[in-house]
Amino acid sequence: MTLWHGRFSESMSESLWRLSESYSFDHLLYRYDITGSRAHVRGLVAAGLLDDDEGEQILLALDQVEEEFDRGLFTRQPTDEDVHMAIERRVTEIAGAVGAKLHTGRSRNDQVATTVRLFTRDALTDLASRTLDLATTLVATAERFPGAYLPGYTHFQRAQPVLLAHHLGAHAWSLARDVDRLIATRERASVSPLGAGAIAGSSLPLDPAFTARELGFARPFENSMDAVSDRDFIAETLFDIALLGTHLSRMGEELVLWTTAEFGFAALGDAYTTGSSMLPQKKNSDVAELARGKAGRFIGNLTTLLVVLKGLPLTYNRDLQEDKEPLFDSVEQAMTVLDALRGAYRSLEFRVDVAREAADDASLAAIDVAEELVRRGVPFRRAHELVGEAVGESMRSGRPFLEVLSGRAELADAAEVVRDGSALERRRSPGASGPLAQPAQGAAWSSRVAELRARLTAGEA
Ligand code: ARG
Repeated sequence: MTLWHGRFSESMSESLWRLSESYSFDHLLYRYDITGSRAHVRGLVAAGLLDDDEGEQILLALDQVEEEFDRGLFTRQPTDEDVHMAIERRVTEIAGAVGAKLHTGRSRNDQVATTVRLFTRDALTDLASRTLDLATTLVATAERFPGAYLPGYTHFQRAQPVLLAHHLGAHAWSLARDVDRLIATRERASVSPLGAGAIAGSSLPLDPAFTARELGFARPFENSMDAVSDRDFIAETLFDIALLGTHLSRMGEELVLWTTAEFGFAALGDAYTTGSSMLPQKKNSDVAELARGKAGRFIGNLTTLLVVLKGLPLTYNRDLQEDKEPLFDSVEQAMTVLDALRGAYRSLEFRVDVAREAADDASLAAIDVAEELVRRGVPFRRAHELVGEAVGESMRSGRPFLEVLSGRAELADAAEVVRDGSALERRRSPGASGPLAQPAQGAAWSSRVAELRARLTAGEA
């Protein structure tokens, strides 16, 4: 018998049971559900609906249930529909008759919303912290190869030389936005739905603000109907992960390219690569490919939830049970990718010489020759044209760009900027890639990381 069998004369069909049970995946919420129940019990005591002794008995039973779960000793009974019912059933077994008072003034609708918010709050903190760790690892990776530079690309064609620190820093700054988003989502999610009941609150003297404080939420709900039907915080979390995953997929794609024989800019450590079951020479960058591939799953999970939510009438509908698997999956997979990628960057050997040779292609300094002419008073459009003609001649004749420049009277003086590495050194505008512009960015990065870390710990319950 389920705990809600009162009005039914026939038991549930096997096929409906299989369709509707959620214990098989929501059991991992047990800790959060018990946390929510503890707050609810304290609220019932504060409201005078339980006396101190009754409250104590239920709290002790909750402790025991938690320990049983922690130690892997909790046994699901065939009638346990979901984790919430399983815990209440067990509390009643342990505490006896008083256990039947646990659900006073509460519905599974406000209960499940509270439980999932508690889970999501921790998940967001954990994800933000791991994302920040990956971002700082990227910066540390560049520091292992001081002064290294490579070609920067637009349209995936070589454009201008850039410092490795600048290039990996670009990924780090995008991850910093992910951290910022995850923390902001956590702040918005900090609303306690407990006390909303099934839909409309309760006739009993419950105080949602009391339980909100007990649970470390910033505030209680304002509207009980909104409280039990709102899953925005899950949608936002799934979006944050989808966008984070999109960033990770771009990093993965880059690592795949860099570690090809064709590029040869980098190698990953053996611990972060795999071999082939057939081809003995292969060393594959699977970590990077999976970082690229998981984005599909993250976007899919976000899409799943948005489609579940779309058009749902107020308030709780059983459809909402479909919110959990996408959430659990995205959270777990994102953590796995973040950790593996961090290890991969730590193991990365950047081939400084190969990248430098590619970046020292003189034509990548064409803009610097033009800007040198500008400095000498030539209008930019004219300078662009003159240098473009020299590039064209070099390509048609096969003569090196520098040689063609030196042979043209109006360009010869400006040609000195084509010297290896010089183009990079000349890039000094704020936020630019060059050794002179880099220190200010390093300082800005350090203060951004410190600020994010402070917000991360400040919001922790
Ligand atoms: N397992 C359910 C869920 O995930 C719990 C809520 C069921 N509530 C109900 N009124 N049937 O949403």
